[in-house]
Amino acid sequence: MNKGEFLYEDKAKKIFYTDDPLLVLVEFKDDATAFDGVKKDRLEDKGILNNRLSALFFKLLEDNGIKTHYQKTVSEREMLVKALDIIPVEVIVRNIAAGSLSKRLGIPEKTELKKTVLEFSLKDDELHDPMINHYHIYALELARPEEMAEMEKTALRVNDILVPYLKERNIILVDFKLEFGRHQGEIVLGDEISPDTCRFWDSSSGEKMDKDRFRADMGGVIDAYREVLRRLEGGEGPAVEGKS
Ligand code: TMP
Ligand code: ASP
Repeated sequence: MNKGEFLYEDKAKKIFYTDDPLLVLVEFKDDATAFDGVKKDRLEDKGILNNRLSALFFKLLEDNGIKTHYQKTVSEREMLVKALDIIPVEVIVRNIAAGSLSKRLGIPEKTELKKTVLEFSLKDDELHDPMINHYHIYALELARPEEMAEMEKTALRVNDILVPYLKERNIILVDFKLEFGRHQGEIVLGDEISPDTCRFWDSSSGEKMDKDRFRADMGGVIDAYREVLRRLEGGEGPAVEGKS
């Protein structure tokens, strides 16, 4: 599979054509951003860790019958994925109150939600990914009702797979964001699943093991990502060697 022309880049990834029009190559960058790009930094090895973690999650989900864009890992920073026509609706799944939910509704962080909460955001950085509902989605023709039904069912199923999987590895899945796209008439899970797009808390200490460490200047961002990978790969010692 040859890496072709550069197609586009977002804040954390670059996308390249391949010689197969149905496949593209995703390269995970070390760039970290928060608050719609207002806060920026480079975190050495983040791209390598997120490539590994996303591949691991996509494989786990595929093994459980979820259609994902993941095809194979090509290098330490690159994965081959199905080319998707991305649906510009971010699907957020929440088990415990945190982040914007806590702020918006005045619910203290760590409050367990009695029922899983699904939210939808318009994927538009300039507008700061505003929350939208089904009426907006259909009025703006962002997705059709049967597509939304499929995305919602899949998002809840992903939660049902990931919560116990992570719990066994001493990690609480607080919330996460998914993106979907169309590929040959099917709705397919795309983008990435990583500590950039999920909230992970250590089950014993409650310590944050995700991008909130970067958002809040807590330090130890990459060490936390490495620890997530170590727990999921079940190996001993650092899963990704330092470069120094
Ligand atoms: P929030 O509480 O800030 O709305 O975030 C909910 C979840 O979505 C959290 O796991 C982080 C993730 N997320 C993204 O993946 N991208 C984003 O741009 C934002 C704001 C959140
Ligand atoms: N992903 C968004 C950004 O890069 C916001 C965030 O994750 O906090 O700015």
